[in-house]
Amino acid sequence: SHFLSSALTRRAFLASTASAAAGTMLPLSSPVHAAPVKDIRLRAAPGLTRLVPEPHGETPAWCYNGVVPGPELRVRQGERLRVLVENGLDEETTVHWHGVRLPNGMDGVPHLTQRPIGPGETFTYEFDAIDAGTFWYHPHQRSFEQVGRGLYGPLIIEEAEPVRVDRDVTWVLDDWRLTKSAAISDDFGNGHDMSHNGRVGNTVTINGRVPDTFAAKQGERIRLRLINAANARIFGLDFQRHQPMVIALDGQPVTPHAPDGRLVVLGPAMRADVVLDMAARPGSRVSVIDRFYRGLEYRLVDLAYDSAPLRDRAPDWSLALPANPLPEPDIKNAVRHDVVFNGGMMGGMVMAEMGGSMGDDSSGEMMGGRGMMGRMGPMMGMMHSGKIWFINGKAAEGHIMEPMLTLDRDRSHVIAMTNATAWHHPIHLHGHSFRVITRNGQPTRHREWQDTVLMAPREKVEIALVADNPGDWMFHCHILEHQAAGMMGVIRVA
Ligand code: C2O
Ligand code: CU
Repeated sequence: SHFLSSALTRRAFLASTASAAAGTMLPLSSPVHAAPVKDIRLRAAPGLTRLVPEPHGETPAWCYNGVVPGPELRVRQGERLRVLVENGLDEETTVHWHGVRLPNGMDGVPHLTQRPIGPGETFTYEFDAIDAGTFWYHPHQRSFEQVGRGLYGPLIIEEAEPVRVDRDVTWVLDDWRLTKSAAISDDFGNGHDMSHNGRVGNTVTINGRVPDTFAAKQGERIRLRLINAANARIFGLDFQRHQPMVIALDGQPVTPHAPDGRLVVLGPAMRADVVLDMAARPGSRVSVIDRFYRGLEYRLVDLAYDSAPLRDRAPDWSLALPANPLPEPDIKNAVRHDVVFNGGMMGGMVMAEMGGSMGDDSSGEMMGGRGMMGRMGPMMGMMHSGKIWFINGKAAEGHIMEPMLTLDRDRSHVIAMTNATAWHHPIHLHGHSFRVITRNGQPTRHREWQDTVLMAPREKVEIALVADNPGDWMFHCHILEHQAAGMMGVIRVA
């Protein structure tokens, strides 16, 4: 394992330096890990948060440290995080560090990498921040409800030499299904959400608030870190007169480029760092529009320009981020694997079984309180144990998960994935970042690394990686209802 062993070597080296110098100049508080340690405490518990403006009331939610999103954790690349998690919920939880390459035991997957944290219990996560970038954290236990009730937060790992900007801003995007009294609708896991496009809500927030305006100054350069924390909503952001330049995807630097079709597209769990040069005139307003779902476009927020400019033209500072220490896959000599995703309403298999008779006329409809066996009862019965989505013909069940695929450690692998369903799926692999090398047979243009790749209906995507992080890793759709309804498996690196 390249990165883990080099991290260990570095620590061992620093530790021996530390003991040699003991008593002279180095602090003795961390005899084993001489890398600076950042201690953090996160408490998951019910709380009240203001999602929508007055006169609406506050919303009972589940919070980290009493806030939604949870606190923005910021560390420097090379630092070590030590996070004490306290569970103040009435149910088990864990914390998963989405996109972070860390040792398997710190990955936060209940029953796979750890025992879940029971109510009133604690667990300490500790790992080195190997890659700089924009990451996030969230539970991996019943995540369709725990994330859906507000448990998530940003994790920013800072480069030693970041790109120069005037402001570094994080926008955590989320989407909620609220009742008229601003309560979270408790129809989590209903059959309709599970078998269609997941729990898409009726209220979109930035950093836990329905946004109104975002203040900007002409000539200002902003690094905007976008994180999609929604259960199911896909965003396609149009900054209109502004040309966003994408400098990182899923935390990993990419050749700076304007997004295809001018839209910054983010499936659930995906991140994009964009640089925005604020180019409009003092006093003007420019709306940011979400155009992902055709016919359902809406104004997300207005960029409201201050009356005084910061400078009269965009700065010409470099946009390139330093690379992270990722091993480049050897695509020619890689081992190939095939993965097919199927299931779901109107998907190939269900379509055949149902004779194509089910329409999709109700995706926005509330199914209040009806369980998985509600209206969908007869159809579910035809499928194995009520699961709806499958990877290579199998749905994840229960706690003990046999790997669907074993990747030889330290070798290069290409995974050819086919979305055989009628729906989008953001497919996430834990413990690694992968290159997205082709889409429908066409090479991708930006050499991007990702940890979550959005697959369109019927799309084929090839990803490549060096399997350098040993352990059993989750591989699943990040539409959390699809994950819960079977679209989840384990990939073993050994
Ligand atoms: Cu963001 Cu398996 O999760
Ligand atoms: Cu999915």
